[in-house]
Amino acid sequence: MKTIAIVNLKGGVGKTVTAVNVAAILATEYGRRVLLADADPQANATQSLLPPGEYNTLAGLLMGDEPYYENLIYESGIRGLSVLPADDDLRNLDADLLEGRRPHMGAIRDLRDALAEDDACDVMVIDCPPALSPACAAAIAASTDVVIPIKLDAYSVRGMNELTAQIRRLRRIYPDVHIAGCLPTVWYRCDAVEQGEKLLRENAPCRVFRSHIRRSPKVDESTWTGEPVVTWSPRSAAAQDYRAFVAELMEET
Ligand SMILES: Nc1ncnc2c1ncn2[C@@H]1O[C@H](COP(=O)(O)OP(=O)(O)O)[C@@H](O)[C@H]1O
Ligand SMILES: [Mg+2]
Repeated sequence: MKTIAIVNLKGGVGKTVTAVNVAAILATEYGRRVLLADADPQANATQSLLPPGEYNTLAGLLMGDEPYYENLIYESGIRGLSVLPADDDLRNLDADLLEGRRPHMGAIRDLRDALAEDDACDVMVIDCPPALSPACAAAIAASTDVVIPIKLDAYSVRGMNELTAQIRRLRRIYPDVHIAGCLPTVWYRCDAVEQGEKLLRENAPCRVFRSHIRRSPKVDESTWTGEPVVTWSPRSAAAQDYRAFVAELMEET
């Protein structure tokens, strides 16, 4: 089952916006049954698709507290799109480790295989935290495609080598993991961004998608609405670019 982990160790690069919009496009425009798994304790993806409330979360899955995946998956307001929520408990996994309780690093991978076996889902998209935490490593271990959203400043572009090296290290243990590519986000016309993009395309240690995602005020606006920008403002520049990106991502499948 195609499992797309959205990864970058930096925050504020558009991981959550990418995860939510890719998941929404696959559900609404490709008719796929999509599960968005939220692996970030900040739970922004969960908040953008589910109403406030008490949910079973990915932390329970990783700690083996919730054996039935049906109890972890919630329907969003978008047809075909379900959510496996995150909460603050994911932050405690590091402390659990210190107390000798180990998160099960294969838990998301096992979930993926169970969903595939039951024919319950077509694609899983995982929104990762900005750190190589246990939840992030478990997400990468479960993925078939790692997508790296990247902002085009020098720190981010230089950080790419380190990030791809870390992901490739995990690949030695989980050989299905493959870096699908990096996706320039929050793009706008100015010399620094255009030069950054050119440098990235010439030197990136992995594929760079042809698409980039333009900066659009509709994205911030959409975060207040509980809707992805692709449904909130389908004609906005960012929505158009996310659709082009998903077409590119799905080219080989
Ligand atoms: N294409 C875009 N245009 C404008 N703002 C964006 C765009 N993509 C992301 N943002 C904004 O940037 C901020 C960080 O995005 P987010 O997806 O939360 O990043 P991350 O998950 O990597 O921390 C948010 O305020 C979001 O609304
Ligand atoms: Mg995020």
